[in-house]
Amino acid sequence: MRVLGIETSCDETAASVVALDAGGAPKILSDIVFSQIEEHAAFGGVVPEVAARAHVEALDGVIEAALADSGVDLADIDAIAATAGPGLVGGLIVGLMTAKAIAAAANKPLIAINHLEGHALTARLTDGLDFPYLLLLVSGGHTQIVAVRGVGDYQRWATTIDDALGEAFDKTAKMLGLPYPGGPNVEKAAATGDATRFAFPRPMKGSAQPDFSFSGLKTAVRQAATAIAPLSDQDVADICASFQAAVADALDDRVSRALNRFRQEFPGEMEPALVVAGGVAANRTIKTTLEALCEKAGFAFVAPPLKLCTDNAAMIAWAGIERLRAGIAGENAADFVPRSRW
Ligand code: KG4
Ligand code: ZN
Repeated sequence: MRVLGIETSCDETAASVVALDAGGAPKILSDIVFSQIEEHAAFGGVVPEVAARAHVEALDGVIEAALADSGVDLADIDAIAATAGPGLVGGLIVGLMTAKAIAAAANKPLIAINHLEGHALTARLTDGLDFPYLLLLVSGGHTQIVAVRGVGDYQRWATTIDDALGEAFDKTAKMLGLPYPGGPNVEKAAATGDATRFAFPRPMKGSAQPDFSFSGLKTAVRQAATAIAPLSDQDVADICASFQAAVADALDDRVSRALNRFRQEFPGEMEPALVVAGGVAANRTIKTTLEALCEKAGFAFVAPPLKLCTDNAAMIAWAGIERLRAGIAGENAADFVPRSRW
């Protein structure tokens, strides 16, 4: 089985061919990601209209490259899987319409994929994980804890009530004059900072409610920065380190609650796993915190390679394969309308 995946929901234009061999082993035959970061850097964030236009310009070439790299002819592709939401609607339209056109012209089935399902199933592509497992998705657009129980069977246990975690990193960076994308730059600055200098709030810590919140933390960072402006390099480093410590602490509290709940709901799981996905999972401090938490709780900690944790089309092709294999690909998605919220 070979599926062509297409991803255009945010600022990555991506295409990939993933195959399943006769023994059921997956193989990524190609994985092309064209990042638009440079186009958005000047604006300090992703601009939807700029992103949509960039997808239009890049997508044909990216798909051609993915097919060429894979060595598979379009004629030998079994299905096309395209992200149909959630995301920026301009990009979704570009990707889904292109997928519909290819599917119609080549007479192939089309599968509309939820971007979050792509993230949720990646650990099965990279690590062969069995259901059920727990997913922590921390990216620029999403902060969620999801119980992944089967293909198409997801239960969201927590979400953010305001900013996504990556967004909080990006906004903190912007306030401190660090370049976009903020996450890696905040982490870099934090390396030489004093994490105890500022006592930032640990949002939701101890709350019985499962969700995340980061806007209060962002406000605390702004107040601290304003109070001591102009900021020296050391001030910036100290704020970044203190911010990161607060985030790690908040995550520790939120995720540990979810691990407990998982134990209760799936008592038969001898070796339960926590999977992390999303760009923020690249952060060393956060990773170390979660690793320690898992070790203490007896959970396996699974972090797929970063390239497959951030936005890519291999995860979309893979979700297509999972759906085909499970017999829940749905009606041919020729009439599917992109859903910015899904
Ligand atoms: O998953 P991703 O590449 O794209 C989507 O948002 O879908 O995530 C990007 C986000 C950005 O907010 C970026 O600042 C953040 O991940 N990020 C990081 C790090 N690297 C990327 N945040 C904290 N520490 C990092 N090292
Ligand atoms: Zn994503």
